[in-house]
Amino acid sequence: MTNLITNQAENKPYSRQKWQQGYQSQPNEYDYFIDDIEGKIPEQLQGTLFRNGPGLLEVQGTPLKHPFDGDGMISAISFLGNGKVHFRNRFVRTEGYVKEKAAGEMIYRGVFGTQKPGGWLNNFLDINIKNIANTNIIYWGKKLLALWEAAEPYRLDPKTLETIGIDYLDGVLKPGDSISAHPCFDPASDLDNGQPCLVNYSIKPGLSSKITIYEFALDGSLLRRHSHVVPGFSFIHDFAITSHYCLLLQNAVSFNPFPFLFGLKGAGECVSFHADKQSKLIIIPRNNTDESMKIMQTNTGFVFHHVNAFEEGEKIYLDSICYDSLPQVQPNKDYKEVDFDGLDPGQIWRFKIDLKSNNIDKEMIDSRSCEFPYINPNNVGKKYRYLFTSTIHDSHGNAPFQAIQKLDLSTGKKQVHSFAPTGYVSEPIFVPKPNATQEDQGWVLVMVYDGNKHRSDIVILDSENLDKKPLATLHLKHHIPYGLHGNWTSEVFL
Ligand code: CO
Repeated sequence: MTNLITNQAENKPYSRQKWQQGYQSQPNEYDYFIDDIEGKIPEQLQGTLFRNGPGLLEVQGTPLKHPFDGDGMISAISFLGNGKVHFRNRFVRTEGYVKEKAAGEMIYRGVFGTQKPGGWLNNFLDINIKNIANTNIIYWGKKLLALWEAAEPYRLDPKTLETIGIDYLDGVLKPGDSISAHPCFDPASDLDNGQPCLVNYSIKPGLSSKITIYEFALDGSLLRRHSHVVPGFSFIHDFAITSHYCLLLQNAVSFNPFPFLFGLKGAGECVSFHADKQSKLIIIPRNNTDESMKIMQTNTGFVFHHVNAFEEGEKIYLDSICYDSLPQVQPNKDYKEVDFDGLDPGQIWRFKIDLKSNNIDKEMIDSRSCEFPYINPNNVGKKYRYLFTSTIHDSHGNAPFQAIQKLDLSTGKKQVHSFAPTGYVSEPIFVPKPNATQEDQGWVLVMVYDGNKHRSDIVILDSENLDKKPLATLHLKHHIPYGLHGNWTSEVFL
C-alpha cells in the first residue's frame, strides 16, 4: 500500500495498479482475424510471430508467488501479407497443466517460490517440479517447440497450437534431460559451409556443473554434441555464440538446497548472488577438436541475457545486460508490490576478451535500465551495429518497461519509442525486410499491454525510424499477460 501511494504522489510515468493488471491470468483461448487495426500493415511483412509466457498467474485459485512459475501459453500472430492478420493463443498441455486442471487443485511446487497450500509439511521433500514450457518458442527443423530450461521441449502443431507432446529432438534427449530456453540461431555457420545452424546447451547443476553443447542442422539433425564439466553450481539462463565459440557466463551464485527440500522456499529463492565474487566466463570451442575449453574470470554483476558476441582477430566481444545485484525473490512479498526504485537496473556492458593474454576489458555501453535484447537475426554471432531492448520511459532509475530503445553501437545514437503512461511492453522482435541492404532495415514487433483498456496490442514499428509513429497498431480483443520470449518465422501456417 505504501508503494502505491508513493508512486502516485511522485507523478511517475506509470500507474502501479494498471501495470499490475497486466499480470491477470488469461484463461481463454482465442482464434480470430484481427479487425481493429490502426495504420497500415506492411505488405512485405509475411510470416508468423510466436510468443510464449505465463498465461495463468494462479493454479486452480492458488496465486503464484512468481510469474515465472506460470503455465506456458503460446500466442501465434500470422501476417498473411494482404493486410490480414490472424491471432491464436493456446496453453501448452503439459503433463502438469493437464493433471492440475483435472484435479482442480495445485499439485506441484513452483521453482520460483510458489508453494502448494498446506504449509511446509505439504511441500517437505517434494522435488517433483512441473515442466511449464513457458519461456521461449522456436520453429526449427519443421518443429514448433515450447522451451523451459529445466526440462524437455514440448512440441506443438504450428497451425493449431495443439500440444503434440514432449519432444526428444529425434532421440538426442532422454527422458529427464533438459535443454535451455535460449538457443542461438547461427545464420551462416563457418563450421557448416555457411549453412544456418541452431546452437543450444544444457546444464546439469550440482557441486560441479555439466555443460553440454548441441548444434542442429536446418532439418533438425544433430551436427555436433560435446560435454564439459566446470567446477561449482551454475545458474546460466542464456549464452552467446561467435563463429567458433560458445560463451557461457557462470554467475557468482551459490545454492543452498535445504530450504527448498524442507518445503520452506522455492529453488529459485535458494540461489544467492555474491556481488564481491568474480563470474566465470566459460569459452567452449564449437568445433570440439583443436582447442580445449577455457575459463576466465571477471566482475560482471549478475547476467540473465546476452545481446550478442563476435570475434575480431584474437579477441572476442561479448555484450551483456548486467545487474549489480540479483533481485532476490522476497519470501512473503507479492511480486506485484516490488519496489522499482530499490531494484538495480539492467545495464549493457561490453566485455572485450583477449584470448592470447587472457585479459578481459569491460566498458558500460548504456546505463538505462533495459532487458529483452534483440538484434537482426542475420548478425547473431557476427559483428553488428544495432540492438533493440525493452526499456523504461525515463532515461534513469527503474520502473516497469514502457518503451523500446534502438541503440546504434557505432555512433551511440539512440531512438526511443515510449508507450507511457498507459502502455507496458514486452520483448521487441526485429524482423529484417526482405532484400534489406542495411542492418536496421526492418520492423520491430512488440506486444504492448494497454493498462487503460485492459487489452493488448501488437505494434509494428519502423526500425529505421523507431521513435516515429507506429506503422500499425493491431488491437486484440483481450489482454495477454506479460510474456517472456518469442521468435519470428517467415512461414505462415494458416
Ligand atoms: Co530469457
